[in-house]
Amino acid sequence: MWSDLESVGRVSSGGYRRFAWTAEDHTLREWFAGECARRGLDVTEDRVGNQWGWWWDGPGTVDEAVATGRKAVVTGSHLDSVPDGGAFDGPLGVVCALTAVDQLRAAGITPQVPVAVTNFVDEEGARFGIACAGSRVLTGQLDPATALALTDADGTSYADALRSAGRGPETFGPDPEMLRRVGAFVELHVEQGRALVDLDAPVAVASDIWPHGRWRFDFPGEANHAGTTRLEDRRDAMLGYADLVLGARQVATQRGCVATVGKVRVTPGGVNAIPSHVTGWLDARGADEEQVVAMVDELTAGARETGAAVTRESWTPTTRFDQRLSDRLRRVLDRDAEVSAPVLGTGAGHDAGILATAGIPSAMLFVRNPTGVSHSPAEHAEREDCLAGVAALTECLRDLTTGEVAAPTTAETQR
Ligand code: GLV
Ligand code: MN
Ligand code: MN
Repeated sequence: MWSDLESVGRVSSGGYRRFAWTAEDHTLREWFAGECARRGLDVTEDRVGNQWGWWWDGPGTVDEAVATGRKAVVTGSHLDSVPDGGAFDGPLGVVCALTAVDQLRAAGITPQVPVAVTNFVDEEGARFGIACAGSRVLTGQLDPATALALTDADGTSYADALRSAGRGPETFGPDPEMLRRVGAFVELHVEQGRALVDLDAPVAVASDIWPHGRWRFDFPGEANHAGTTRLEDRRDAMLGYADLVLGARQVATQRGCVATVGKVRVTPGGVNAIPSHVTGWLDARGADEEQVVAMVDELTAGARETGAAVTRESWTPTTRFDQRLSDRLRRVLDRDAEVSAPVLGTGAGHDAGILATAGIPSAMLFVRNPTGVSHSPAEHAEREDCLAGVAALTECLRDLTTGEVAAPTTAETQR
């Protein structure tokens, strides 16, 4: 499976450009559907386009099983990438999920509840700007009309991208029927830092996700000649933007947060023309929600003084994974182990976090990344650690599908 994926969307940096609803994404979706079909998993799509491959040998249909309290255990991740992303962020969770199904079958396991493998669409938000768009719309955390109106760098709307991918936006929206099937969601993911290297452990269980968000800053200016316009006569949009970049670093340091301006658009974009407009995107995160909010408020106030317009594009508060489910995974991992599996928080967003916020008992497993680098071609996981991840996920699925049926949490009952 890994070698099938190796060339899809690969670019000269050695990284990947796999953006939602592009030709590369189409190839990956076809690949996913093919891998599910090869295993006899019944592939369905929800109203957003997230793919689900169902394994249920009965009795009855998946929905009948769900109606009698046998909610599904679901595992998977995403196949899209950031610009020049690594090979593992996303695909590792999908490949390990499919492999875990193979392992369960090879061991003769008959799940007592339906099992599904998922490929969530548009996790990175690289094309339209909102991360986890697929799971957010699915769970009602992103308004479908807002999502459909988003545009990419070429001005193509999400709605048009869906049409080009051969699907009408008419049915696009939350899918409570699909969500009602899910009793537990487990996402395996490459670690995006160096904690497991330092702890000398191949696999960890996740505890929580830092609060994080994205803001768009629009700085106005006036286009003019770079040689003939006196400095005092200029309205250079780049200056406000430069303040934002340097301010972000300074305020993040003061408040113990992280802040990144990783994307910028300059108009008109000529070397010898004063910028008439600069748009910069701020990504802000941190362990302490109050500090993150205060940091962004401070940067927003500073930018507004230079005449900038500031728009919040997304915000995800602190997300805690389901304690009972996470403890259960940890017990499974610790069963024959000499040392207990580490528990790690993360600054990265995930579909599992969006599902957790929607009240679905969700948990994550992290696989060691020796470089500690992510969202870059340098992201890596050794084969041996990937196999440890598969083994861990397989055991967790075995426990969840043959042990006690994952009981609904309070939040789930309220849904
Ligand atoms: C997703 O990977 C994110 O945290 O930006
Ligand atoms: Mn990512
Ligand atoms: Mn990811």
